[in-house]
Amino acid sequence: MCGIFGIVADREQQLGPILIEAGQRLSYRGYDSVGCATLRDDGTIDLRKDVGKVDEVAARLRLSEMVGRRGIIQLRWATFGAPSRVNAQPHLDSDGDLVGAHNGNVVNNVELRQQFMAEGMTVRSTNDGESCVHAVERYVDRGYDMVEAIRRAYRDLEGDYAFVIGRVGEDRLYAIKKGSGLVAGLADGATCVSSDLPSILPLTRRILRVQDGEIVILWADRVELRRVEDGSPVEREVEEVTESMEVAEKGGYPHFMLKEIHEQPQVAGELLHLLEASPHVTPMVERMAAARHLYLVGCGTSYHACLLGAIYLARLAGRPAVPILAPQFIAQYGPAVGPRDVGVFVSQSGETKDVLNAVEVAQRQGMEVLGLVNVLGSTLMNESEHYLPLVCGYEISVPATKTFTNQAVAFLFLALRMGGHSTTDLAHLPEMLEETLAAVEPQVSALESALADRDDLYCLGYGLTYPIALEGALKLKEITYAHCEGMLSTEFKHGPLSAVEEGYPVLFVVGPEDVPLLVSGINETTTRGGRAIAIGEEDSRLRANAHDLIVLPPAGPLFNPLLAVLPLQLLAYRLSLSRGYDPDFPRNLSKTLTVD
Ligand code: AGP
Repeated sequence: MCGIFGIVADREQQLGPILIEAGQRLSYRGYDSVGCATLRDDGTIDLRKDVGKVDEVAARLRLSEMVGRRGIIQLRWATFGAPSRVNAQPHLDSDGDLVGAHNGNVVNNVELRQQFMAEGMTVRSTNDGESCVHAVERYVDRGYDMVEAIRRAYRDLEGDYAFVIGRVGEDRLYAIKKGSGLVAGLADGATCVSSDLPSILPLTRRILRVQDGEIVILWADRVELRRVEDGSPVEREVEEVTESMEVAEKGGYPHFMLKEIHEQPQVAGELLHLLEASPHVTPMVERMAAARHLYLVGCGTSYHACLLGAIYLARLAGRPAVPILAPQFIAQYGPAVGPRDVGVFVSQSGETKDVLNAVEVAQRQGMEVLGLVNVLGSTLMNESEHYLPLVCGYEISVPATKTFTNQAVAFLFLALRMGGHSTTDLAHLPEMLEETLAAVEPQVSALESALADRDDLYCLGYGLTYPIALEGALKLKEITYAHCEGMLSTEFKHGPLSAVEEGYPVLFVVGPEDVPLLVSGINETTTRGGRAIAIGEEDSRLRANAHDLIVLPPAGPLFNPLLAVLPLQLLAYRLSLSRGYDPDFPRNLSKTLTVD
């Protein structure tokens, strides 16, 4: 989703390089356009923006040369209005003396634009970020000061957003938070504000976490917070961030995705250490065990972890749980859930709007909200009565990899605890993940050429490997742009089998308990000329029946899914590269989906 960054320095200077670096650190969110504005001491605004990646736009528009005392950069992921130069942010007000940019979604954008035009304002784009600027302009023109104008604009702007705005002739920037992330930083000779902590860290480790309904006033030497409801000051301690910035870099790998795939053994180990010591596990387990109905709610990859979690909970703790996609949770169970029910809401970002909508419904119905979340300080974390952090660090690549593994590990741990089982065997998991990565990498490379040109394939699993088949298919779709459908293996013969012809590829993710059943499925494919590619433990039946076998180290049925996802992640990565795509930033997608 969009990202914003604003800076106020104590003197006019070349702000371009700082803005570009901040933009690069926002870029993991996924975006289609980039724009910068600087406000100069001579009362002019330099605004440069266009469609493209940060480096391309920076080179084309010479962003590094931009000078000012105050500056804003925004990365836009199109929601309202097509990706275009005019829709790129920041935006000016009618007279060109206000400039601002937003992150998030103003849901009454269409109505507001009509009002602004009817009031005689100059509306240049269809983008909702421009509405934030005009919403402030409306009250500045009526004689209100900036804080009061922002307070009033806040009442007019519906949706979840954060925006940053500046006015010529002043020495400040202003920002406001309503449902989207916002952090302020205090550096030497400058202050800054951003949707994302990583874009602030190169400048300072002294930060203020902004809460919903707060206005930020950035002066070069201080940051003031005010409550939007009455304009009163908010006292908040400055925090010192200790986490390292290196985690946000590629660490020698060509792509973040490959780095993050290889981080899985390490982050799984760190999570297991944390869980063993965590005081939050017992209350989570108790609440999940005592629930009348237990729902596991997420989207995309996080939903696949919920599917796997539900199987672990049933098998290890005899606890039925309903895994469900967040929007469908609202539609299907929203009216029926109540105070005795519990939801475990699962999200890497903790900001996925579909998930937060489901949290809101759950809370309204009196349900208990528990969270599994990677981004600390995220909305999901704040809304959860109890949560477990996934401790994966930043996951920059759009395709989720290490966070899936830790979501699944967290569920496995909770299920073992709930069932009264020992968790000591989990200590072997990191080394098994390591061993698997080393073992499958050459096997996946060997398969690459056979699949490189395929635009259509299936990925099938059964029982514990069914969620893995869905996850593998999602990874393949997401970064190769091929059609890959994940499915329960037994469903294949109920329709999709008709697609199989000579050479048609079907991946089978085979758990050690399910080899006979999957061998039947494999034969249904191969007898029709299809190419069956099995992923499973060494097994003569798989060798005899499938064309290819990606061999996983022996791990048993519970750990097998956690290993089986690795070759699928690597396969998706390699096929993405062989097709000439950037696996970290697939087209049309965003890392954090903060819109409905
Ligand atoms: C996975 O590779 C995707 N990028 C996507 O499906 C993601 O898992 C989904 O959007 C949910 O995100 P979240 O975990 O941050 O809520």
